[in-house]
Amino acid sequence: MTASSNEPSRRLAAVPDVDPAPNPHATQEQVEAARTDTKLAQVLYHDWEAETYDDKWNISYDERCIDYARGRFDLVAGDQPLPYERALELGCGTGFFLLNLMQAGVAKTGSVTDLSPGMVKVALRNAEHLALPVDGRVADAETIPYEDNTFDLVVGHAVLHHIPDVEQSLREVLRVLKPGGRFVFAGEPTTVGDFYARWLGRITWEATTRATRLSALKSWRRPQSELDESSRAAALEAIVDLHTFDPADLEKIAESAGAVEVKARTEEFAAALLGWPLRTFEYAVPPEKLGFNWARFGFTSWKRLTWLDETILRHVVPRRYFYNAIITGVKPS
Ligand SMILES: C[S@@+](CC[C@H](N)C(=O)[O-])C[C@H]1O[C@@H](n2cnc3c(N)ncnc32)[C@H](O)[C@@H]1O
Repeated sequence: MTASSNEPSRRLAAVPDVDPAPNPHATQEQVEAARTDTKLAQVLYHDWEAETYDDKWNISYDERCIDYARGRFDLVAGDQPLPYERALELGCGTGFFLLNLMQAGVAKTGSVTDLSPGMVKVALRNAEHLALPVDGRVADAETIPYEDNTFDLVVGHAVLHHIPDVEQSLREVLRVLKPGGRFVFAGEPTTVGDFYARWLGRITWEATTRATRLSALKSWRRPQSELDESSRAAALEAIVDLHTFDPADLEKIAESAGAVEVKARTEEFAAALLGWPLRTFEYAVPPEKLGFNWARFGFTSWKRLTWLDETILRHVVPRRYFYNAIITGVKPS
């Protein structure tokens, strides 16, 4: 971890100076308590999956994911001068979005934050391996522990739908942005997209776990303890996924938080219809069963369907039917 010149604020008394430690093995009692406490559920669920998250979601820090992150950013902010001097990521997970954006030349220095200590630990480790100038903190996106007017850019990927009060969080984003600074949040599920993705995932999981009970397919079955742990996690997942968005409503939330130049775009329709069954299948079988050819097949198909989405379907299918929403806005000068 490399500290950047501007130290995080110590002004907020409620924010502890020392970040809490990761807790990757939640007890049954903790899981029970998390049923009525969504933020505890976020911490338990994401601490549990932090060390395996990059593998589970096929996240890397090479050209493939650098292009993906930059592509999402450019869809809404591609016309902006680069690089931004100092960037913050909310709900960073393992650092997928900001670390790859920094590698793509979008920002010079970064701060990664997440509610889950396990995720911040992995994100900082990834940043160190990549030799990127990044610091990090455990932080709730509704009360960001940095001074006003600190960052030139705030980003997030797949995080807004986990935050109870999205408007409050965007108000905080605008507070820590410098005047004229921009935010970009990508990877948010649309309401329609989430509906078909969940059904496709459920059907694929059932079909795969039933088929691998057959003795001929026994070697394709993951150990029962891993499947049980996945089921426990899935119970928490239902608690941590709080929102889906209609793109027009998301724009209204950002404007009502005080942002200007607000614009929401959506992406992935055909790509999502293929992507969800593929990803669920990958997670339901032992990783060693699927080799390089499978990964290449998944990536090539996704690229082709994304081309179809962007060149044709985007012009004929309403934006709310696409799976992912991306939103950008600016803090008034
Ligand atoms: C779906 S993961 C996405 C992680 C990463 N951005 C990515 O795209 O790979 C959502 C992340 O948001 C974090 N999170 C959830 N609620 C949060 C909150 N209120 N404040 C900050 N982070 C939060 C979770 O701990 C988790 O790491």
